[in-house]
Amino acid sequence: MDPVATQTLLQGEQKARRTTVFMKILMATTGALFVFYVLMHMYGNLKILFGPAAFDEYAEHLRTMFEPILPHTGFLWLFRALLVVALVVHAYAAFTLWSRANGARPQRYAVKTAAKGAVRSKMMRWGGVFLLLFLVFHLVEFTIAKVNFNGAFSAASLGNSTGKLVIASFQLWWLVLIYLLAMAALFLHLFHGVWSGAQTLGWANTAASRRIWQGTAHVVAGVVVIGFVIPPLAILVGLVK
Ligand code: HEM
Repeated sequence: MDPVATQTLLQGEQKARRTTVFMKILMATTGALFVFYVLMHMYGNLKILFGPAAFDEYAEHLRTMFEPILPHTGFLWLFRALLVVALVVHAYAAFTLWSRANGARPQRYAVKTAAKGAVRSKMMRWGGVFLLLFLVFHLVEFTIAKVNFNGAFSAASLGNSTGKLVIASFQLWWLVLIYLLAMAALFLHLFHGVWSGAQTLGWANTAASRRIWQGTAHVVAGVVVIGFVIPPLAILVGLVK
């Protein structure tokens, strides 16, 4: 091949590899913010075990945080904005990597699909899409529109208490089922996310560090998901009223 053409081809390939690495770093860093967020959110949700008033009080604390340096709900809105930006970046990087993998040479792709890693990345993609749909439903249900699906509770009896809405909601088995499915997806996503994030950042390049990060990924995903499923299950079986 003409040396100039070879040089151009090599430069193109190098640029593509750099972009892929950059996208993976974006995914790992925004993913780390989500891990922090779900840990905090899971901890906050456990307050419902002490009744709706305890939950509402905690939610109110989030709104008054850093007052008077920030206005009422100021910190909450700053954090919400950060989460939205991180979500857009995370999803953009994911779709970019997704389309790059799909555009790879057919024979390489055929070999890749047979590999374990390809099953894993498919699971991350479709699991991620499912989690995104869950998030939209979840935000409409508890934050944006505050929808009560449980006819046994009148709007007047719930007032504007999110704690009471949570209790009314998780008395419905089908809603608990939706949440359990989402949490199963979250477990897989968190486990593979933490593990591959550690690999991307170069923290898992020895046998010992690989074992440590696989263990960490299991613990993080396990703690988050077990913590999240406790309130809906406790409400469903009538332990929290
Ligand atoms: C069983 C699992 C979960 C339960 C029971 C739950 C419950 C809730 C409740 C009750 C609220 C409203 C809080 C309030 O207005 O004070 C809320 C808000 C929210 N949840 Fe969840 N959640 C769960 C899982 C998740 C997961 C996995 C994510 C993220 C992937 C998530 C992301 C959010 C976000 C972004 C908000 C809005 C917070 C805000 O007001 O800015 N939740 N959740």
